[in-house]
Amino acid sequence: MENGRITVPLEAREVDWEIAPGRSVRGFAFNGEVPGPVIEAQVGDTLVVPLTNRLNEPTTIHWHGIRLPAEMDGTESVQWAVEPGETFEYRFVLPDAGTFWYHSHVNETEQIERGLYGALIVRGPDEPVLDRERVLVLDDVKLDDEGQIAPFGDPHEHHAGREGEVLLNGKQEAELHIAGGQIERWRIVNAANTRFVRLSIGGRPFSIIGTDGGLLPRPLQAEEVLVTPGERLDLAVGPFVEGELIEIEALSYDRGKGESAVQRFGTLSVGPAAPSRAKLPDAFRQIDALVSRTAAATRTVSMKALMHGGLHQRDEPVRVGELQVWDLVNETGQDHPFHLHGFFFQVLEENGRPQSVLSWKDTVNVPRKGNVRIAWLPDDRPGEWMYHCHILEHHAMGMMAHFEVLPSH
Ligand code: C2O
Ligand code: CU
Ligand code: CU
Repeated sequence: MENGRITVPLEAREVDWEIAPGRSVRGFAFNGEVPGPVIEAQVGDTLVVPLTNRLNEPTTIHWHGIRLPAEMDGTESVQWAVEPGETFEYRFVLPDAGTFWYHSHVNETEQIERGLYGALIVRGPDEPVLDRERVLVLDDVKLDDEGQIAPFGDPHEHHAGREGEVLLNGKQEAELHIAGGQIERWRIVNAANTRFVRLSIGGRPFSIIGTDGGLLPRPLQAEEVLVTPGERLDLAVGPFVEGELIEIEALSYDRGKGESAVQRFGTLSVGPAAPSRAKLPDAFRQIDALVSRTAAATRTVSMKALMHGGLHQRDEPVRVGELQVWDLVNETGQDHPFHLHGFFFQVLEENGRPQSVLSWKDTVNVPRKGNVRIAWLPDDRPGEWMYHCHILEHHAMGMMAHFEVLPSH
């Protein structure tokens, strides 16, 4: 198959974002929509995105999860932010299949809260066959008494984060329809600043088929799953029976701030039965372990030190081709979703428990008073990279570090 080129001009500008019928908030959007347009491509395609900034403040786009060259990563350590009225062209190859997303990487606590995010879907040659596919971008937005987006910079948010009314694909109380007897692929993105989503689909069983970096080795049955900010999950959902009404909810979860209230993203109503051609194979692909479980850690990243280290922290460089085994240690009283830019890692263990199924991840929750061991290989993309907590308020207050990937010797 010929590799193609996908060109998607994006314009960032202010909009009236209708979060419910007759209820609008002043938002920021790509091409006037929140979420921004779903970008769809095939593995190997080149994505070309001229970004024009029509906001009154600088912005950039980060391509969360894409293994691209450092200079296309969209952070201010690899490019000048795009000033109002200017255009910057992103151009890179999409090397992996999966559910990714793009979002602003400047003043993110405000720009992402206001709506500067969208999904990026890359398909491989052998995707499982399901009856229909949909993208569900989860978010929430904090409103003030006037029903507008609440002011930013509340000091309480630095620590506790920022949560608000839940939204599915930019809307409150979304209504979805599924045909009876069918099984769908749901590509889930958590684009919220802070909200942890312990996702339930009416308590019904579903299959987890993919994570941040594409398909799992095999489908996993579950009745709920935690999706932290920045993470993605692909699910196989259904079949249901005509007439059923199913709630799509975030169940209560304690990320260190007490049990959250149950939140409803929307409802799924089941229509008349339609024929199904869905076939979920027993296995999708083989994922080989990067290292053995007994490999010694090459680095420890302390969430507490990171949290208190202030802005512009720098970690030690790593070198292309040198395997990394990192212990992410969380001594703090709240969970932190750790995100590594530009590279996938494997989670080896959580709190000393080996992972039963390997997958490729770029964001992983490090539970409070817990630890996670990851392994990753810096492939040949030297340059400036970073990692950070994907609770955006934590990132903004400095819970992040830059580091360099050095060229091989
Ligand atoms: Cu979605 Cu710097 O991250
Ligand atoms: Cu990222
Ligand atoms: Cu955090």
